[in-house]
Amino acid sequence: MTDQVKVELEAGVLTLTLARPEKKNALNNAMYGVLADALERAETDPAIRVVVFQADGDSFTAGNDLQDFAAQAAGAFEGERHVMRFLKALAHATRPLVAAVQGQAVGVGTTMLLHCDLVYVAPDARLTTPFVGLALVPEAASSWLLPARIGHARAYAMFALGEAVDGITAVAWGLANAAAPEAELRTRARTAADKLAKQPLGALTATKRLMRDAAAIAALMDKEGALFAERLGTAEAREAFMAFAERRPADFTRLA
Ligand code: COA
Repeated sequence: MTDQVKVELEAGVLTLTLARPEKKNALNNAMYGVLADALERAETDPAIRVVVFQADGDSFTAGNDLQDFAAQAAGAFEGERHVMRFLKALAHATRPLVAAVQGQAVGVGTTMLLHCDLVYVAPDARLTTPFVGLALVPEAASSWLLPARIGHARAYAMFALGEAVDGITAVAWGLANAAAPEAELRTRARTAADKLAKQPLGALTATKRLMRDAAAIAALMDKEGALFAERLGTAEAREAFMAFAERRPADFTRLA
């Protein structure tokens, strides 16, 4: 367990708050574990009708903890990994998922939004998926879901060039429902969640099942996951993580 994710249930709404603001809410293994447990519980607990993701501090999340990635790359990561359990729980979620996003939403911080049903963003939020620059590949079924949502050209620029999408553009491109000032974001998400919590759960569940092919999404996550794990072991990835730790730009030009 970790207190870096707060879990609160009130009136049918399970709120998951990322609470590691000093590290821009970078997601470590323990945090993925709490998120996965919560989503799995939401599927079976009749008291939970909607799940809300939000984050403390100035950013939604800086994505996967890069020290964890570096440890995995070095073969020094021990214990059960929870990230895939979290992603699979997103794939199979039938409860409505709502997100309130401010500041940076890097990597999985953006790709998890593709699994949310309602997304509210601050106008100056920055959505980025810089997988290629980290010598990695897209995850969370984003290699299909992102181009399907915004088109290949835009998705490729996000993946391969790390181009950022601000909150206003995210709404225009269909990545988010609406932009709201940061001070109003949580209320906006909560109001929508409260409305959903009063809707008939059976109809919500059936509708979401019709709208998403969970089995295909989960199968793609496995395919991406195998490539992702392979890429973590490359010299390119070691250079990317070392460059982040040393606060310098990565130099891939001397690697074959
Ligand atoms: N993993 C681990 N630590 C991270 C992190 C991550 N993904 N992102 C940020 N942090 C840490 C920084 O190391 C720093 O720690 P320190 O204060 O102990 O030095 C702290 O969080 C604040 O980050 P900083 O870079 O100083 O903040 P910023 O406002 O200048 O930049 C980001 C914010 C998110 C743009 C920048 O931190 C970043 O690019 N992070 C990496 C994002 C990434 O590549 N994620 C993986 C995606 S797959």
